[in-house]
Amino acid sequence: MAFGWIDEQAAARRRAGLVRTLRPRPADSPLLDLASNDYLGLARHPEIIEGAAEAARRWGGGATGSRLVTGTTELHGELERELADFCGFEAALVFSSGYAANLAAVTALAPHGSLVVSDAGNHASLIDGCRLARGTTQVVAHADPDAVRKALSTAKSPAITVSDTVFSVDGDAAPLAELAAACREYGAGLVVDDAHGLGVLGDGGRGAPHAAGLAGAPDVVVTVTLSKSLGSQGGAVLGPAHVIDHLVNAARTFIFDTGLAPAATGAALAALRLLRREPERAARAREVARALHTRLTASGHEAVRPDAAVVSVRAPSPDQAVRWAADCRSAGLAVGCFRPPSVPDGVSRLRLTARADLTEGQIDRAVGIIGDTRP
Ligand SMILES: Cc1ncc(COP(=O)(O)O)c(C=O)c1O
Repeated sequence: MAFGWIDEQAAARRRAGLVRTLRPRPADSPLLDLASNDYLGLARHPEIIEGAAEAARRWGGGATGSRLVTGTTELHGELERELADFCGFEAALVFSSGYAANLAAVTALAPHGSLVVSDAGNHASLIDGCRLARGTTQVVAHADPDAVRKALSTAKSPAITVSDTVFSVDGDAAPLAELAAACREYGAGLVVDDAHGLGVLGDGGRGAPHAAGLAGAPDVVVTVTLSKSLGSQGGAVLGPAHVIDHLVNAARTFIFDTGLAPAATGAALAALRLLRREPERAARAREVARALHTRLTASGHEAVRPDAAVVSVRAPSPDQAVRWAADCRSAGLAVGCFRPPSVPDGVSRLRLTARADLTEGQIDRAVGIIGDTRP
C-alpha cells in the first residue's frame, strides 16, 4: 500500500519513545520561558510590534513575489544596509529564513569540483546546504582547526569551511580566529552561521565574527537569522559585496523564494535599531546565561559552561529528558529538550536559553524548578 512504510516508521518511533508532537503556545502563556530563542526579549517589545505593524500597513501582508521580481521593498534595502553596517561587513542580503540563507551561502559558494569542510556539530541547515551543494563535503571533528587544516590540505580550489559560531545543542563557541587562520593558509573561504551569536556576542551584540576580529574580512561570509535575538523572522548573509552579488545571481533559495514578508522585515529593522540604542542587552543575555550555569552546577547539575546564551544541562536518558522537561512545564517552566536523533552524540539534554529580560528572581525560580523535578 502506498505510504504503508510511513506507518511502520511511526510505530518504530513510538517504540523508541521518539514521537514528536506539536503543542500550540497560548498568546498569554503563564510559563516562565527558557525554551524560546528570544534572547533579548524583543519578540513582544512594543517597538518591534509597531515596526511589524507599520511595515504591514505600508507594504501589505506579503512580499508579493521573489526578490528579483516584485518582492524587494525599500525596507529590505534598509535592513540590508543597516545589518551589514552593524556587523561590520560590506554588504548583506536578506532571505525568508536563516535556513534559506544557509542553503544559499553553502550551495552558491561550493560549485562542482570544490571542497566543503564541515564541522561535525553544525546545524541541520548547514548540513542540508552541504547535501545540496555540487562540491564534495568532508565532515571534520568538532571545533578542531587542525582537522580543518588536514582536510584543506587535500583540497582542490575552490574550498570553503563551514561552521556554526555558537553550536545550538551545547552552546559552545567555535574557535573562529583559528578557523580563519587555517582557511587562509590554504586560500579557502570561511562561512559561519552566527544564528546564536548575533545580538549576544561581540561589542553591543555585533556577533561572534566581529568579536573574533573577522568583520569585513574579504574571505569571511556570515549567515544570521532574524528569528532569535532580533525577535522577528527571516535570515541574511553578510560578506564582501561581490559575494553578495554572486548570491543574487546564483543562490536558488534567493532567486526562487518569495521575499521576506514586510512585517518581518520591519520588525527586524526595529529590533536592530533598538539594539544599537540599548547595547547592554547583549551583555545582559550573557550574564543571565552565566548565572544560570553557576547556580545549576552549584546545585549538582552537569551543565556546559555557556559561551553565549544557550545553557545545556545533561539528562540521564532520552525518556528521562522528556519527563524532566514535562515536569518542568507542569511546575511552570518551559525548557527545550534535545535527544537523539537530533543530537548525534546520543546525549540527551535540557536546553535553556538565557534571556536578557530575566530577573534574578526568575533565574532562581528556574533553577529551583529544574532541581525539584530532576529525575
Ligand atoms: C544555528 C542555526 N542556524 C540556522 C537556523 C535556522 O534559522 P531560521 O529559524 O531563521 O530558519 C537555526 C534555528 O532556527 C539555528 O539554530
